[in-house]
Amino acid sequence: MHHNDRVSFGSRLGAILAAAGSAVGLGNIWRFPYETGNHGGAVFILIYLGCIFILGLPIMIAEFTIGRHSKASTGEAFKVLAPKGYWKWVGYLGVLTGFLILGYYSVVAGWTLEYVFEAATGQFAGKSSSEFVSMFQQFSQNPIRPLIWLTVFMLLTHFVIVKGVQKGIERSSKVLMPLLFILVVVLAVCSVMLPGAEKGIEFLLTPDFSKITPDVFLGAMGQAFFSLSLGMGCLSTYASYFGKETRLGHTAMSVGLIDTFVAVLAGLIIFPAAFSVGIEPDAGPSLIFITLPNVIQQAFSGVPLLAYVCSILFYVLLALAALTSTISLHEVSTAFLHEKFHFTRSKAATIITVSCLLIGIVSSLALGDWSSYTIAGMNLFDALDFLTAKIMLPLGGMFAAIFVGWVIDRRIVRDEVTNYGTLKATFYPVYIFILKFIAPIGIALIFMNELGLLG
Ligand code: PHE
Repeated sequence: MHHNDRVSFGSRLGAILAAAGSAVGLGNIWRFPYETGNHGGAVFILIYLGCIFILGLPIMIAEFTIGRHSKASTGEAFKVLAPKGYWKWVGYLGVLTGFLILGYYSVVAGWTLEYVFEAATGQFAGKSSSEFVSMFQQFSQNPIRPLIWLTVFMLLTHFVIVKGVQKGIERSSKVLMPLLFILVVVLAVCSVMLPGAEKGIEFLLTPDFSKITPDVFLGAMGQAFFSLSLGMGCLSTYASYFGKETRLGHTAMSVGLIDTFVAVLAGLIIFPAAFSVGIEPDAGPSLIFITLPNVIQQAFSGVPLLAYVCSILFYVLLALAALTSTISLHEVSTAFLHEKFHFTRSKAATIITVSCLLIGIVSSLALGDWSSYTIAGMNLFDALDFLTAKIMLPLGGMFAAIFVGWVIDRRIVRDEVTNYGTLKATFYPVYIFILKFIAPIGIALIFMNELGLLG
C-alpha cells in the first residue's frame, strides 16, 4: 500500500509554512487587488472577509481532516474514506480544477519573471505611469516573450516537484515567506504616504453598499477559495503529509490570518498608489504590473539605488510566492497520477508539466493575438479563471463540507480536530454546524443569486 511509505512534513511549523506557501501567492498580490478594484472596493473586502472566516476556515479544516485521515492525495482520499458511491468524483473534480488553474496561473507567474528581468536590467528607472502601462501591454500581448517565461516557470515548478515533498516544498517555504511579508509591509507604508493616496485608502476602507450585486458575492466567494487554495484538494493533499501532532484548527487559523494579512496589505500597496498616479482601480489583471513599479519609483525617487534593489527584490519574492503555489497545484495532479496509475513521480510530473504548458500557451495567447476568441464575452484566459475560481472551487468546497459534515463517521471528524482527544474541542459544535448547514446553503445561495434565481 502506498499509505505507509508517505513522507511527512518535518514539524508543525513546517506544516503551517507549507500550507501558507500554497495559500499566499499571486492570488493575494495579483488577483485580490484586481477583483477588489472590479467589485467596488471596501464592500467587496467586507464580504470577502466574511467568506474567509465563515466558509473558508471551516472548509479548510474539513479538507485537512480528509487528507490527514485518508493519508492519500485528494484524487484517492474520497475513495479511501467512502469506498462506495460517487464521492471519488469530488476528488477527481479537484484534480481537474487544480490542473486548469496551474495552466493559466503559470502565465502570470511567468510575467513576474519578466519583471524581475526588467527590474534587474534597470528598465524601470525614470519611467512615467503611462510608460508603465504601455510597457505591460506590449509585453503581455507579444506572442513569444510571455511564452518563454511561462516555460521557464513551468520548468522551475517541475524541478521542485521532482525533487520531492519534504526537501523541495518545505525548505523553500521556510525562508521566503517571512521575507515577502516584510517587504510587503514596507511597500504598503511607502504607498500610503504617496501624495493623493487618501482616495485609495478611502476606496479600501469606506464601503459603498450601493455597489453590492450578485457578482460581488460570487467574486468574493471565489476569491476566498482561490486565495486559501481551497476547494480542489490542494490543502487536503498537503494534510496527508501532516504528522499526528499537527493541530488542524490552529493551522487553518494561522494560514487564514497570514493569507488575509498579505492580501489586505497588497490592497494597501496597490490602491493608494493607483489613485495617486491616476490609474483606474478596475484596470484588471494588469493592475499590479503597472502600479507597483510606479510606487517603487515614486517612493524612492530620491534614492535610485534603493528603488532598483527594491524592485528586484519585490518581483523575485513575488515569483517565489507564486512558485510555492504552483508547486502545490502541480503536486495534486502529480500525486494523483502517481498513486492512481502507479507512474513514477518523475513521469507523472512530466505529463502534468507538458500538458499544463499547453493550457498556459493558449491562455497567454488569449491576451494578445487570440483575444477575439471569446466564451460568454470573456477571452479564454478570463473564461478559465471564471470557470475554475468562481465555479469549480466553490463547488469543490461545498462538497468537502457536505462530505465531512454528513458522510464520514463523526468519530473520525472529532478525532481529527482534537488530535484523538488531546485538544479541547471548544468550537467543535460551531464547526459541525457550519459544515452541515451554513457552508452548503451559503454557497448554494450565492450561486442561485448569481443566476438570478433569488429574485
Ligand atoms: N492560493 C494560491 C494563491 O493565492 C493559488 C492557489 C489556488 C494555489 C488553488 C493552490 C490551489 O496564489
